[in-house]
Amino acid sequence: MKKYILENDKNYIWHPFTNIKKSKPPIVIRSANNDKLIDIDGKEYLDLISSWWVNIHGHSKKEIIESIAEQSKLLDQVVFADLTHEPAVKLAKKLSEILPGDLNRIFYSDNGSTSVEIAMKVCYQFWFNQGIKKNQFAALTGGYHGDTLGAMSLGFSSGFYEPFSDLVINTHFLPYPENYRGNNSVEEKELHSLSEADKIIDKFGKDLIAIIIEPLIQGASGMKICRPEFLNALVKKFKQNNILVIFDEVMTGFGRTGKMFATDYLNIIPDVICLAKSITGGYLPLAATVFTETIHNQFIDLDITKSFLHGHSFTANPIACSAANTSIDLFGKENTFSKIEQIKKLHHEGLELIDKNPTVSKVRMIGTISAFDLSILDVNYGSDVSNLIKESFLEKGYIIRPLGNTVYLMPPYCISTTTLQKAYEDIDMVIKEFSKEVL
Ligand SMILES: Cc1ncc(COP(=O)(O)O)c(C=O)c1O
Repeated sequence: MKKYILENDKNYIWHPFTNIKKSKPPIVIRSANNDKLIDIDGKEYLDLISSWWVNIHGHSKKEIIESIAEQSKLLDQVVFADLTHEPAVKLAKKLSEILPGDLNRIFYSDNGSTSVEIAMKVCYQFWFNQGIKKNQFAALTGGYHGDTLGAMSLGFSSGFYEPFSDLVINTHFLPYPENYRGNNSVEEKELHSLSEADKIIDKFGKDLIAIIIEPLIQGASGMKICRPEFLNALVKKFKQNNILVIFDEVMTGFGRTGKMFATDYLNIIPDVICLAKSITGGYLPLAATVFTETIHNQFIDLDITKSFLHGHSFTANPIACSAANTSIDLFGKENTFSKIEQIKKLHHEGLELIDKNPTVSKVRMIGTISAFDLSILDVNYGSDVSNLIKESFLEKGYIIRPLGNTVYLMPPYCISTTTLQKAYEDIDMVIKEFSKEVL
């Protein structure tokens, strides 16, 4: 069977984010259990990146599996224009209750990129419906918002899109003042970024539809953290100038940063929040773009051209909504935030150990995400050295995918204390061995 899978994988499949020429045959994963992935030969791997940041409670979660099974029997899929259903309505109500302010209007789709695409289109049309023509966005350098054309434009500086430079929407990028342990120039960098924001607002303010921000941590460009004080000041500037604010919480949502949403650390509320990835606990594709009533009100009109004429076949899929309801309920039932607190403590201790390596720099963490850089070489995304590090971790049974020279851990919340402690010890060993080889 393994031979059959690998041969046909090679002949028929095009994998994402993969260098076809260089990459080795993929590992064939057959099953998963809690924090483990098990391959076809029975080898176990610790899923230290929660299967691309989605699987928050762990794999094979009984409650989510049961809700999927029950909902599949009752109603599998239905058009979401003219018709509605209980799982979608329950989820929308639940989201509006756990989100701050009047972020109450939920537009469903099925992945993070489309949740951003919807945010962009709605914000554009919000102005258009008022007779105001605007055609530019602002974003932070290094931000990543997905791979569809619009989302790509807003994340262009993340470095994944060189071939597409002719296709992008006009976006102004502000410097991102990243912070990490021992950084003593963060305030200076924040002031610089804020003054650049002033310049962009002065020059292009009337054309700016919105600014998009990954709040508190930029994921794909290297787990870069910024301070809440900075975001509070930045968002205030844009709001004061009547420019909409979109928070992309596709990665940070649902406990990742230590609170339900990264927004909960701030004293300001955005106009739009994008949610996806872990919304169903990682079981099914679903996304929600959440808007304030003020935005929604601009679409209430008898004229059809003022409606938001956008939708996807699987908008608000009932099975996915049901999984999401169960996943969110688990936070209360299982006291998930106490698990998150324990992971925070273990990350803190683990990073103390890792930080002792002379090749390690920029140690940082927020909530259940920890990261550090390997300051040995210039290691680009997908480079040979980066792949070598990834393989060293794999050999030891860890799924870790460094982003260039950044190694990060984002485990499912079910990980046990001893497992995570052991992971840090093994990672420390890999770094030591690896440093010896390349230095
Ligand atoms: C912050 C952020 N926004 C958007 C996306 C795109 O999500 P998806 O891969 O589900 O399209 C990602 C994916 O990594 C992300 O991290």
